[in-house]
Amino acid sequence: MDKRLETRIKDCEVLQLPKIHNRAGNITALENEHSIPFPIKRVYYLYDIPGGEERGGHAHKNLEQIIIAASGAFDVLLDDGNQRKIVHLDRPYVGLHIVPGIWRELLNFSSGAVCLVLASLKYDEADYWRDYNSFLKFK
Ligand code: TYD
Repeated sequence: MDKRLETRIKDCEVLQLPKIHNRAGNITALENEHSIPFPIKRVYYLYDIPGGEERGGHAHKNLEQIIIAASGAFDVLLDDGNQRKIVHLDRPYVGLHIVPGIWRELLNFSSGAVCLVLASLKYDEADYWRDYNSFLKFK
């Protein structure tokens, strides 16, 4: 069976990232093969998100991601075609690992929130399911 059909919400783990504490502030450093379960090919971040806006609204066929609230807070709704779950992210040292084949929506952004994403592949529009019904059909 296609691996992408089998992924479930329980495969999306919340990871505690390393934090180096200092009286002048904290540092979180992420390196391939240490804190991250895949080699990072791309980093992007969402910012200046207007109040009430939602992002995401798609699933990926092969891409794995770690989503981090680098600043502020937001919710990630995960949907595997069978179950739904909302994960609230509000700490820069916590990452949500989203495996392929999971529909996600990002919502309830706090003012000034920055959503940092570490991705396993370069950008490829062909890797997206942007239509929820096609995604459901595939699952
Ligand atoms: P999209 O992934 O749909 O954003 P979100 O899920 O946050 O709503 O991407 C929005 C637009 O940005 C889309 O036209 C593709 C472009 N884009 C890139 O060119 N490179 C990238 O790495 C990403 C993530 C998006």
